Amino acid sequence: MAKRIQFRAHGGPEVLEYVDYQPAAPGPKEVRVTNKAIGLNFIDTYYRSGLYPPPSLPSGVGSEGAGVVEAVGSDVTRFKVGDRVAYGSGPLGAYSDVHVLPEANLVKLPDAISFEQAAGVMLKGLTVQYLLRQTYELKGGETILFHAAAGGVGSLACQWARALGVKLIGTVSSAEKAALAKANGAWATIDYSYENVAQRVLELTDGKKVPVVYDGVGKDTWLTSLDCAAPRGLVVSFGNASGAVDGVNLGILAGKGSLYVTRPTLGTYANNAENLQRMADELFEMIISGKLTVDISQRYPLADAAKAQTELSARRTTGSVVLLP
Ligand SMILES: NC(=O)c1ccc[n+]([C@@H]2O[C@H](COP(=O)([O-])OP(=O)(O)OC[C@H]3O[C@@H](n4cnc5c(N)ncnc54)[C@H](OP(=O)(O)O)[C@@H]3O)[C@@H](O)[C@H]2O)c1
Repeated sequence: MAKRIQFRAHGGPEVLEYVDYQPAAPGPKEVRVTNKAIGLNFIDTYYRSGLYPPPSLPSGVGSEGAGVVEAVGSDVTRFKVGDRVAYGSGPLGAYSDVHVLPEANLVKLPDAISFEQAAGVMLKGLTVQYLLRQTYELKGGETILFHAAAGGVGSLACQWARALGVKLIGTVSSAEKAALAKANGAWATIDYSYENVAQRVLELTDGKKVPVVYDGVGKDTWLTSLDCAAPRGLVVSFGNASGAVDGVNLGILAGKGSLYVTRPTLGTYANNAENLQRMADELFEMIISGKLTVDISQRYPLADAAKAQTELSARRTTGSVVLLP
């Protein structure tokens, strides 16, 4: 019998239970994967809390992992038993020994990348790929603002920005996180626990502000983000770590300088097997060439997923955290 983490009702980390589970046989276009490592992500907490509705209850948890193919459906063409694979866009249920996924959600994992690296980078790294290379196509030379720069997505964004020749200003909540963001390539940091972010951005950009703001913090930083974008700049609101942004008054975009706003999702960018593979190829190349290091800051046994989510929500993690079955 396999094990997995599930929840029957929404709530805090205490609703997560570690249970016996009978994985389904793969459907015609599905692949069954024995997980070797599983990624922890903030989005996992949104499904658990009910901010994002899961398809049904009880629900599995988690969208990111890496492992070995143990069975394939009758119409699967790209994978065979024994292949090393990775995934970062669900379906929910990655917090498990064994996970069944559509073939289209999987990529082959190059031998040069470990299971832990892949589990720590698929969802977060593919997100950075689309944020920096597609949502706003950075060319090099720009100065940008990226919130929560020492977190999972943020740590990868700092490194990717440095590789592109982009000056990333990263917000963080402590001196230790500032040092980490700097080590990862942030050009400057702002500690938003006591500094005025908009004022510091003005100073750091000689009054120009930035062409693009990346905001995964949400409620607490939304208005500040609008203040940091240059006229006709883009605010990318891609997450809700502090709570959801709601009640947006479009007039505010006019008042602050004809701003653009987008609320992107990984699923819209990696929306088919070709796009997913192309994005993953670019991500893997960044790792293999040494431009991107996956910092696995903490490892937890799968059974301790609730403890891992508690640490993530309490802002006590940095970089990537993995669960080990
Ligand atoms: N749209 C997409 O496609 C997509 C994909 C992946 C991730 N995301 C989003 O990207 C963000 C980062 O995800 P992640 O998994 O890498 O998480 P993370 O950055 O490792 O953790 C969240 C960070 O947000 C900061 N934060 C600010 N206010 C917070 C609050 N009230 N409570 C908790 N944290 C707060 C904390 O950093 P400080 O202590 O430095 O403030 C914390 O470490 C999340 O919002 C996530 O939902 C979106």
